[in-house]
Amino acid sequence: MKLEDIRREYTKDGLRREMLKDTPVAQFELWLQQAIEAKFADPTAMVVATVDEHGQPSQRIVLLKHVDENGFVFFTNTGSRKAQELKQNSKICLHFPWHEIERQVIVYGEAQALPTSRVAKYFLSRPKESQLAAWASQQSRPVSSRQALMQTFSSMKDKFAKGEIPLPDFWGGYCVVPTKIEFWQGGEHRLHDRFMYVKQADGSWEIERLNP
Ligand SMILES: Cc1cc2nc3c(=O)[nH]c(=O)nc-3n(C[C@H](O)[C@H](O)[C@H](O)COP(=O)(O)O)c2cc1C
Repeated sequence: MKLEDIRREYTKDGLRREMLKDTPVAQFELWLQQAIEAKFADPTAMVVATVDEHGQPSQRIVLLKHVDENGFVFFTNTGSRKAQELKQNSKICLHFPWHEIERQVIVYGEAQALPTSRVAKYFLSRPKESQLAAWASQQSRPVSSRQALMQTFSSMKDKFAKGEIPLPDFWGGYCVVPTKIEFWQGGEHRLHDRFMYVKQADGSWEIERLNP
């Protein structure tokens, strides 16, 4: 099978200006709800792109844990590559690849570190094993073997055998405050619908249609 021959038409839906909500977050919430109802794996999974000090972009999948008019929230290890890159350059791009429903959403913005109280609230809501795994993992740094990782996990299990597992001081979260959000709906013959919400100085949103 030649890769060049793998193609399909996008015919599920169309997106028209009059269908759009006033704010991109309201539009996002509608599409997220439909992505959840479509029952595909990990509807809250998003690709998070950051850039290092040399201008080298990197990406990884992270789960969206909350969204409201303030922004898009995710949690991670603050020693990880993404967190280190965000320290240098807080500009960030999120991508929701909802191709099962012939849609994608792209969020451009600035990542703001969340207060510890907010991070702790989420951390304490996680299953115990995930909390222990957070303690055991120096995310993004080399580890000698799977066995070494499991040994650290097991020693954390012993260390925190009693009571609540505290929030590690190397664990944090971000709220991505959006400046632009694009909604893409696949169209027939590659004539896709694309709308970009752009934040204005007064806080309102302008909407422009983009060429496919
Ligand atoms: C479906 C899925 C969900 C993930 N969710 C998270 C998450 O919420 N937080 C996180 O730090 N990493 C998450 N990861 C792991 C990241 O993709 C990545 O490997 C890790 O954060 C280290 O990234 P970095 O080295 O670029 O900082 C997830 C991976 C997958 C495939």
